[in-house]
Amino acid sequence: MTADPSLIRSSFAAVQSHGPQLTEYFYDHLFTHHPELRPLFAAHLDEQRDRLWAALGALVANLENTDTLVGMLQNLGRRHAGYGALAEHYPAVGDSLIAALRHYAGDAWTPAVEESWTAVYGVISSTMAAAGDPAAR
Ligand code: HEM
Repeated sequence: MTADPSLIRSSFAAVQSHGPQLTEYFYDHLFTHHPELRPLFAAHLDEQRDRLWAALGALVANLENTDTLVGMLQNLGRRHAGYGALAEHYPAVGDSLIAALRHYAGDAWTPAVEESWTAVYGVISSTMAAAGDPAAR
């Protein structure tokens, strides 16, 4: 299954007004299911939540600008290697991101939307992890 950009955009539009709650839900979900990841993050997540939300918006806006998208993901992936993010952490983050999107998207969330987000997150995580892996550089 490949991602349908129009479904990504419409479901992201449906959660637009819930940015602060969605990112809070995301971190709560992540740290409840994967408490071992909490120490990687700073104690206070306020600023971090805003940055995550801005990054997601930028990624969605550039879904079809492949060169821009890949460049953004490689930069993000290289910075994440410095935060201690490992390739094996990416699935947990994807599960929490999709849970948060699903929670706030309401009726805009359908099986096809979930498949599209899963496919997009596969591209995000593989590109970020490869850029963050010293052996791949
Ligand atoms: C959808 C994938 C992800 C996106 C869009 C994303 C986005 C961001 C952004 C925008 C920042 C702010 C700093 C910066 O811009 O470099 C950040 C920081 C961070 N991210 Fe991610 N991230 C993702 C996946 C992950 C994964 C898989 C981990 C692994 C645990 C992770 C752990 C961290 C940590 C530890 C920080 C630093 C936070 C701090 O200093 O408190 N992120 N992330």
